[in-house]
Amino acid sequence: MSGPQAGAPQAAPDRAAVHGRARPDAGAGAAAPALLELRGLEVAYGGIRAVRGIDLEVGEGELVCLIGANGAGKSTTLRAVCGLVPVAGGAVRYGGQDITGLPSFQLVRRGLVMVPEGRGIFGQLTIEENLAMGGYASRDAAQVRRDTERVFGLFPRLAERRRQSAGTLSGGEQQMLAMGRAMVARPRLLLLDEPSMGLAPLMVEKIFEVVRAVAAEGVTILLIEQNARLALEHSHRGYVMESGEIILSGPADRLLHDPKVREAYLGEG
Ligand SMILES: Nc1ncnc2c1ncn2[C@@H]1O[C@H](COP(=O)(O)OP(=O)(O)OP(=O)(O)O)[C@@H](O)[C@H]1O
Ligand SMILES: [Mg+2]
Repeated sequence: MSGPQAGAPQAAPDRAAVHGRARPDAGAGAAAPALLELRGLEVAYGGIRAVRGIDLEVGEGELVCLIGANGAGKSTTLRAVCGLVPVAGGAVRYGGQDITGLPSFQLVRRGLVMVPEGRGIFGQLTIEENLAMGGYASRDAAQVRRDTERVFGLFPRLAERRRQSAGTLSGGEQQMLAMGRAMVARPRLLLLDEPSMGLAPLMVEKIFEVVRAVAAEGVTILLIEQNARLALEHSHRGYVMESGEIILSGPADRLLHDPKVREAYLGEG
């Protein structure tokens, strides 16, 4: 699961703990091509221009967050990357290749995995079966089994319920399952759409613990979050989206102290 760690274009200068949490080290090597690059990306739903020509990049090994209010266009951006909505303009590049408009099953094979908003688990299937779906593109059954056991190690609640149908899990447990399934898929780039949504504080803490653990293994992550503070505290860099446009971006530390971000997204000022 490890990838090259050097070459993130703008690693956070410090690995210092923010509120006691160490950010994963993205390395500080010379600039390398970004793993994910959006150039002038546009998406429209009928007449609604949900994404209006945004540029965004995520370097190999980086944890980058995309924050913004409801309806800003965050989920649409991820859906466009994954080939789930048509791209109206611009390009998506992944690992140096143009993947604009490629269907998601092809992207999963290349290591690009999304945990969608609302989780996308299969309610009729058991926990075990859902986890196995994460590994469907893998030919290595033994590795899938090992990864499944690792997920059960991280989330003992899922282990206890492994033969229960996933539709009966609580919201937080379903979120754990969705994260677990993504881990079994062995992503190179993980796209997370609001992993903390609707969860109690302890569960949010647990989910972010796993996000950190996955990032520390070298998996590149693009994280969407409503909880801007939590997202920025865990990320190297961030982008702020408003009405389909990126209005601010930079190192997470800087955004955390930006007066506009504090006022509009951190409920301060
Ligand atoms: N399938 C769709 N058909 C039409 N409009 C859509 C569709 N999906 C999203 N939109 C619109 O596109 C805009 C961006 O929505 P999107 O879901 O990307 O926002 P978001 O930033 O993820 O918001 P949230 O934080 O509430 O999840 C919104 O105005 C939304 O109403
Ligand atoms: Mg959304």
